[in-house]
Amino acid sequence: MNSFQLTSENEFETRFLGEKLSQQILEFNFGSPKIVFLTGELGTGKTTLTKGILKGMGYKGLVKSPTFNIVEIYEISDHSVFHFDFFRIVHSRELSEIGIQEYLTDKSGISIIEWPERASSILPKPDLKIHIGHSSDLNEDVRKFTINSDHDIGILLG
Ligand SMILES: Nc1ncnc2c1ncn2[C@@H]1O[C@H](COP(=O)(O)OP(=O)(O)O)[C@@H](O)[C@H]1O
Ligand SMILES: [Mg+2]
Repeated sequence: MNSFQLTSENEFETRFLGEKLSQQILEFNFGSPKIVFLTGELGTGKTTLTKGILKGMGYKGLVKSPTFNIVEIYEISDHSVFHFDFFRIVHSRELSEIGIQEYLTDKSGISIIEWPERASSILPKPDLKIHIGHSSDLNEDVRKFTINSDHDIGILLG
C-alpha cells in the first residue's frame, strides 16, 4: 500500500492536485474500470478535487455536484467519468435502482465516488482512496489529504 499526505492551502491548490491525480488515475488497470473513493466531511473539497480531476482529463464544461442526481456523467475522449455522491443514500437498494453495477463495471468507466461509506457493502475495492480533513491551522482553508493506493502513485511526490 502506497500512502502519503499532502496539504492544500486553498481551493485552487486542491483543483491542481486533482489535475495531477488525473494522469495517475488514467493509468490504472488498462482497459478496465477505475474506481476512486473520496471521503471527508461536507465542505472539505471532494467535489472541488473532482473538478480538478475532470479538468486534468480534458473536460472543459461545467461540473456540477451530483448531490441531487446521485450521478453526473462526463464523456471525455476514451472514457466516461461517473461522478457519484452517495450522501443521501439510505439503503444500497437505491443504488441498484440506478443500475450502479453497470457503471462500476464499464470498461471505459472512471467512477469517482463521494461518501462511498454509505454503500460500502456493494462497492469494489478502489484503485485510489483519498481522505480530506480540515486542519487545525488558523487558516480555515487548509485541508489535509491522505492518499492511499495499491498502485504506484509515487510520481505525485515529485
Ligand atoms: N483548500 C481547499 N480545498 C478545497 N476547497 C476549499 C479549500 N479551502 C476552501 N475551500 C472551499 O470549501 C468548499 C468545498 O466544497 P466542496 O468541494 O463542494 O466540498 P465537498 O464536496 O467535500 O462537500 C468550497 O466552497 C471551496 O471554495
Ligand atoms: Mg461534494
